[in-house]
Amino acid sequence: MYRLLVCALGLAGTVFGQSVDSYISTEGPMTKAGVLANIGPNGSKAAGASPGVVVASPSTSSPDYWYTWTRDSSLVFKSLIDQYTTGIDSTSSLRTLIDEFITAEAYIQTVSNPSGTLTTGGLGEPKFNVNETAFTGTWGRPQRDGPALRATAMITYGNWLYSNGNTTWVTSTLWPIVENDLGYVVSYWNESTYDLWEEVDSSSFFTTAVQHRALREGAMFATRIGQTSVVSSYTTQADNLLCFLQAKSYWNPTSGYITANTGGGRSGKDANTLLASIHTFDLSAGCDATTFQPCSDKALSNLKVYVDSFRSVYSINNGIASNAAIATGRYPEDTYQNGNPWYLTTFAVAEQLYDALNSWEAQGSLNVTSISLPFFQQFSSSIAVGTYSSTSSTYSTLISAVQSFADGFVAINAKYTPSDGSLAEQYSKSDGSPVSAVDLTWSYASALTAFEARNNTQFAGWGATGLTVPSTCSGNSGSTVAVTFNVDATTVYGENIYITGSVDALENWSPDNALLLSSANYPTWSITVNLPASTNVQYKYIRKYNGAVTWESDPNNSITTPASGSVTENDTWR
Ligand SMILES: *[C@@H]1O[C@H](CO)[C@@H](O)[C@H](O)[C@H]1NC(C)=O
Ligand SMILES: *[C@@H]1O[C@H](CO)[C@@H](O)[C@H](O)[C@H]1NC(C)=O
Ligand SMILES: *[C@@H]1O[C@H](CO)[C@@H](O)[C@H](O)[C@H]1NC(C)=O
Ligand SMILES: *[C@@H]1O[C@H](CO)[C@@H](O)[C@H](O)[C@H]1NC(C)=O
Ligand SMILES: *[C@@H]1O[C@H](CO)[C@@H](O)[C@H](O)[C@H]1NC(C)=O
Ligand SMILES: *[C@@H]1O[C@H](CO)[C@@H](O)[C@H](O)[C@H]1NC(C)=O
Ligand SMILES: *[C@@H]1O[C@H](CO)[C@@H](O)[C@H](O)[C@H]1NC(C)=O
Ligand SMILES: *[C@@H]1O[C@H](CO)[C@@H](O)[C@H](O)[C@H]1NC(C)=O
Repeated sequence: MYRLLVCALGLAGTVFGQSVDSYISTEGPMTKAGVLANIGPNGSKAAGASPGVVVASPSTSSPDYWYTWTRDSSLVFKSLIDQYTTGIDSTSSLRTLIDEFITAEAYIQTVSNPSGTLTTGGLGEPKFNVNETAFTGTWGRPQRDGPALRATAMITYGNWLYSNGNTTWVTSTLWPIVENDLGYVVSYWNESTYDLWEEVDSSSFFTTAVQHRALREGAMFATRIGQTSVVSSYTTQADNLLCFLQAKSYWNPTSGYITANTGGGRSGKDANTLLASIHTFDLSAGCDATTFQPCSDKALSNLKVYVDSFRSVYSINNGIASNAAIATGRYPEDTYQNGNPWYLTTFAVAEQLYDALNSWEAQGSLNVTSISLPFFQQFSSSIAVGTYSSTSSTYSTLISAVQSFADGFVAINAKYTPSDGSLAEQYSKSDGSPVSAVDLTWSYASALTAFEARNNTQFAGWGATGLTVPSTCSGNSGSTVAVTFNVDATTVYGENIYITGSVDALENWSPDNALLLSSANYPTWSITVNLPASTNVQYKYIRKYNGAVTWESDPNNSITTPASGSVTENDTWR
């Protein structure tokens, strides 16, 4: 669907040398090519990287980005999977690349690294060598957004395959990979993390938001493909994450912005929070503020505060009107490489605004609340709190002003894109020339998704509609409780009693790996197992005799574990 594209030269014509339409028509194909060039093994700038591995940048020194980050790779492949599953690019070569990504990530999940192993926290490792070996140097680890973003990318693909009849591969090959990542999120979301800029070790809004999304869509996906045993734990922790997302340590009502990290000693104004909005956008959720949708009053207020924080810190922004687009960076206090604007953060501002425009168009109205009033006053000083229908002239005025504002951010990046179309990580705050890593894959992907949002290209939602925030927030320390299972069962000589059930600690319903109980107090058989706290666990006992397996009759036994302490469960064989 097309929205009338308003010419970018309207609001701040003197700033831009080139129209946004013409920039996108040349830069659009280059951004896709820029992404593909950085993916092994055939990407022209990724020689030596394993198949499906995304190189962050071909730059090997000052800075050395010749690594693969789980976050960057997952965001990049989400954009490619979106293109494949919506038919924008349905070529078999893209399908091959996506399958290679999945194979690569499935292997990387198993690589022991300084954060741990597959089952002891290793999925939080932020980056690996491009040959899929562990990076063992000092680093800001763990970073707990990676597994969530990777699950989101793979679920998008899995849903498409499932809809197209490829159910076996989804359940037998893809699901176990996704389940590893979502299990990690369930276990570790409530522990501190390095933020997406790898500097602050605390709780981080972007991480919380993408973890919430991953568990929410993970629960829907698991239900759809019949993996029901995980659904209650995903939903429980998604509810806890949604609750935590509302925390006062994030949303600052007095100053109208989201504090990006609970630690770090900065203002907290940070592109982290805009990236959270655009990567959890769900058109069907409207302008819901509990999930900080791009058009929500909180996210718009936050956008203005964030943008304004860069007006005086970069000299290339000097002389630009206080309500016009500027170059933005990660956060105003940034000193990395001397602290400059980034392409991907400036594109993120545009993308959030385009998403908002798409939501208002879909809803046929736009709300101005006391929270979003300062945002809208930039475009109309007399605007009042209220609902403006798409038939009103106020709506038309605001929509075209927001469109021009959004285009302005693209035009700023356009102005500082070199004539060969390449996108580095940053551009100089004083003269706009490219700075830091060349050909940053994420820069290209951020352009791709911003241009698609401008085009009102629509991708699958993730279940953000109609969510209810629990009245009290609970954490999940990842703690376990000792559960003793006693079962009265008479057996014949050589026959043994085992248990298996719905969680890792009970071997996920595997009769082969089921846990053997002790017969020391025969006819009571016993075992003590550490199970996740505050979790509903389903289980059954089984008998094994001469290689034959006999399950207890239905239904499954069930226990909800306490938050702490220990518990004894007394059963009789059925
Ligand atoms: C990479 O190149 C090899 C050799 O030409 C080819 O077999 C493979 O399919 C290519 N991979 C992709 C994703 O195009
Ligand atoms: C993988 O890459 C790392 C870093 O470049 C290098 O030290 C290591 O030798 C490589 N390992 C293999 C098996 O190629
Ligand atoms: C299902 O998709 C996977 C991944 O692309 C592919 O390897 C497999 O051949 C497909 N199976 C069928 C039956 O199409
Ligand atoms: C505007 O606010 C009303 C009342 O809160 C709500 O029902 C409606 O969905 C909102 N519309 C938009 C576009 O945000
Ligand atoms: C925008 O949509 C049109 C029509 O579907 C398509 O031809 C064009 O390639 C799209 N452009 C971008 C940048 O997505
Ligand atoms: C854990 O969850 C509780 C309850 O939501 C919250 O107050 C606390 O800040 C969280 N801690 C971390 C590190 O996420
Ligand atoms: C017991 O749990 C398994 C695994 O989730 C499930 O397949 C089965 O349908 C359940 N049995 C009953 C009777 O609910
Ligand atoms: C199981 O039996 C033990 C000892 O007889 C008792 O302490 C415990 O409370 C019982 N558990 C339940 C759930 O009734």
